[in-house]
Formats: sequence, C-alpha cells, structure tokens
Amino acid sequence: MNDVIIDARDVCYRYESGLSDAVSHLSLKVYRGEFVAILGRNGCGKSTLAKLMNALLLPTSGKITVDGITPANEDECYQVRRSCGMVFQNPDNQIVTTIVEEDCAFGLENLGVEPTLIRQRVDEALAAVGMAQHAHSSPAMLSGGQKQRVAVAGVLAMRPKIIVFDESTAMLDPIGRRDVFQLARKLNREEGITIVWITHFMEEAVQADRVVVMDRGRIALEDTPRQVFSQMDKVLALGLDVPEMMKLSARLVAAGVKLPQGIMTVDEMAVELCRLK
Ligand SMILES: Nc1ncnc2c1ncn2[C@@H]1O[C@H](COP(=O)(O)OP(=O)(O)OP(=O)(O)O)[C@@H](O)[C@H]1O
Ligand SMILES: [Mg+2]
Repeated sequence: MNDVIIDARDVCYRYESGLSDAVSHLSLKVYRGEFVAILGRNGCGKSTLAKLMNALLLPTSGKITVDGITPANEDECYQVRRSCGMVFQNPDNQIVTTIVEEDCAFGLENLGVEPTLIRQRVDEALAAVGMAQHAHSSPAMLSGGQKQRVAVAGVLAMRPKIIVFDESTAMLDPIGRRDVFQLARKLNREEGITIVWITHFMEEAVQADRVVVMDRGRIALEDTPRQVFSQMDKVLALGLDVPEMMKLSARLVAAGVKLPQGIMTVDEMAVELCRLK
C-alpha cells in the first residue's frame, strides 16, 4: 500500500472565468490499491480535482503525477487517461451507441485495438459488471444503475489502474446505488484497481479506506472514516452530514448510555447495544 499512484503537489487550478482557484494549493497522495472517498460541500472543487487526476484539466500551478506520468503534452494526457478512467454522474451522458456491447467497445475502437482483442475485453468487462446477459440490449431499455454499470464496463475494457467515480451514484435509485457502489468495491478488492470515490453519501464514505474532505479547493480533513467522522462538529461545520449511527450514539452517550466512541454502522451499533448490561 506504500506505492503512491496519484501524487498531487501544491496543485492550483483556476478556470478562465474564475475569480479564485477552484483547487487551491492542494497536496494529496493516493496509494495503489486504495479506496479513497472524497467529500465536500457543493462547489468545493471535487470535480475539478477529479478532472486533474484524469488529465482532462492540467494544473495552473503545481504538479500532479498519475501512475508515474506528469502530464504536460497531449501524448502524456492520453497516457494518463488510459491509466485513470472516469465514471461521471449522469449515465445518459456517457452512453454513445445504441447497443450495450458496442458502447463498451467504443473506447477500444478509438484506440485502434484489434477486433478479436476488443471482443475478449468487452466480454470480460461486461461479465465483471454483471451485464453480460444485456450485451445485445439497447442502453435505453436499462435502469440507471444498469447504465452506470455499462459505463463502468466501458472504462474497465481499457484496463485502467485507477477509476475515479464522480458522484456516480447520485442519480440512481437505492438499488442502483448499492449495485454500483458494490461493483466499485469488488473491482478494488478483487482486481486491485485503485478507486477514488467522490460522493455526498456518508454511508458510502464510511466504507472507504480513507476519507478526504475538501473545503474551498483545499483539503480540510484527511483520515480513516472513523477518525474523520468522530470529529462531528468539524464535519458538520464543513457542510457535511455524519453517519446516522454516529448521531444516534452521540445522543445515547449524552443520555448516559455507556457506548464506545466511533460507532458508524448499524451492525456496530447492534453489537455495542447487546454488550450493555
Ligand atoms: N467550467 C467552469 N468554469 C468556471 N468555473 C467553474 C467551472 N466548473 C466549475 N467551476 C467553479 O469551480 C468551483 C469548483 O467546482 P467543482 O465543480 O469542482 O466543485 P464540486 O465540489 O464538484 O461541486 P458539486 O458538489 O456541486 O459537484 C466552483 O466554484 C465552480 O463554480
Ligand atoms: Mg462535482
């Protein structure tokens, strides 16, 4: 886990029309194989950081190195985009063709990959996201969660080392949200793909290896989910919510119930309540 795969050093980014930096003097290391959640209130710079990780944007100042490449020219940007795939919020904006498997093949076709290899990679990717049986369907017939899984398959077919999910569950119903999140976890655990998971859902963030909270283009907090969410007042002041079980445990403690600190999930709460005499 000590191998740094994304290394941002004192990165600033200002949009042409921007009055201030959208990302400001931000330094962050993401380690190979890690699942990092990025949180922060609207407009704090999460998507801008995602685009810097994917070389869709280049820093105004500072440096970002992704899988050993510090992109400066077109060729290097292209290499970074191959290492670091991206899944966006709206599944409809990511689907470009009318048949699922063609959609997954699109990126590889653009790279000029040989057709038999494309076939193999697309089949593998659709199987990995649980959409193989829909290979010949029209994306228009799929649910939001299924479309998002197809978008993930299109990214996977490119064999990225990192996938950045920018609020990819925000537009989905609870089942779609759970499926896409579980898929990202599976790709992380089983394929060793590094995941950067941008979200507004605290119940997703608690399952990450590490949580990074941004505020006005900078990093405000960075630690394990338990350490971050234990600082409830700070987290609330940064415009975020804390997991429901943390709120409940704070109320129970205030009422005199003897609970340990840092209860984040329903399962943990159940265990601790059963332990009470
Ligand atoms: N294309 C753009 N041109 C000018 N300013 C922009 C552009 N995109 C974003 N910004 C500004 O940059 C800042 C950071 O925006 P960004 O989209 O990175 O935030 P975010 O944390 O992803 O927000 P959200 O939670 O709403 O997705 C905001 O002040 C935003 O208004
Ligand atoms: Mg955003």
